[in-house]
Amino acid sequence: MSADATHQSPAAAAFADVEHKPGAKKPDPILVADGVHRAFGGMVAVDVEHLEIQRGAITALIGPNGAGKTTLFNLLTGFDKPDKGSWSFDGKSLAGVPAGKVARAGMVRTFQLTKALSRMTVLDNMRLGAPRQPGENLLTALVPPLWRRREAEITEMADALLARFKLDAKRQDFAGSLSGGQRKLLEMARALMNGPQMIMLDEPMAGVNPALTQSLLGHIQALRDDGMTVLFVEHDMHMVRHISDWVIVMAEGRIVAEGPPGEVMSDQAVIDAYLGAHHDTDLGDDSLLSDEVADQLEREAEQEQAEREAENEEGGR
Ligand SMILES: Nc1ncnc2c1ncn2[C@@H]1O[C@H](COP(=O)(O)OP(=O)(O)O)[C@@H](O)[C@H]1O
Ligand SMILES: [Mg+2]
Repeated sequence: MSADATHQSPAAAAFADVEHKPGAKKPDPILVADGVHRAFGGMVAVDVEHLEIQRGAITALIGPNGAGKTTLFNLLTGFDKPDKGSWSFDGKSLAGVPAGKVARAGMVRTFQLTKALSRMTVLDNMRLGAPRQPGENLLTALVPPLWRRREAEITEMADALLARFKLDAKRQDFAGSLSGGQRKLLEMARALMNGPQMIMLDEPMAGVNPALTQSLLGHIQALRDDGMTVLFVEHDMHMVRHISDWVIVMAEGRIVAEGPPGEVMSDQAVIDAYLGAHHDTDLGDDSLLSDEVADQLEREAEQEQAEREAENEEGGR
């Protein structure tokens, strides 16, 4: 489509010669997975024959609920173990490697704020995201100057990221007091404490006020433009259409389609078979992103924010 081609990102252009089919080979894959299989009881949650994720691009993983997207994220990042399968990240085999080591290798996934994390401050959440070097506990326990220096470094990094995501004013607030959108930003900022090469976002738009989605989209694009690889799961088809360089469709554990967003998401067979009824009204119609609508959403968000602030003042902490 010529309209798409005019504002195509360099990352999207890298897919020019990639076949539009499941398991397609990419020119510069950062992640390559083969035969990844995970069953719960008798139910096969993930059965991925071959998957390649292009370096430096934004790839969307879409598909109906229960397709196995989250399970695949968990497997690849070491939070769950497959029955069989292998994968390599940046040339290193990571199958069977635990989550902490996967993160240190440069691949991280975001996590929703748990109850426990909600009761901690924003800054402490960020500190928790910092990688612990092997042996660090022993070393730091023995050498206080090293410990202090490391703590100072971590705080400095946390503050820089909080500033980038415009959460610096909230650094001493409880994470639980943040709005839906701010939580998502914190989850992203926390994942970046690892200095990853690749970040995996599971439904980054869930619970985010529509007016804040633009800013969230901007942050995700900025990560890609800084050279990071982004893989995200999302039900919001506007987001998928607007920021993905490539789309992978998963259903019943398998990769069933791949291609550029414009093509995959206008493929009626893909829509009918895999995206389900709740996607039929919203496949990324540009007209919904008109300035007028954006302004209106912005006003609604401001109003909501004001109400929330008034509530906070009333309730105190
Ligand atoms: N820990 C688990 N125990 C049992 N079944 C699970 C578990 N995690 C996921 N499943 C099942 O695996 C399938 C895939 O789930 P999931 O990966 O969460 O899908 P998606 O993220 O695409 O919605 C679903 O049928 C789900 O019920
Ligand atoms: Mg999921």
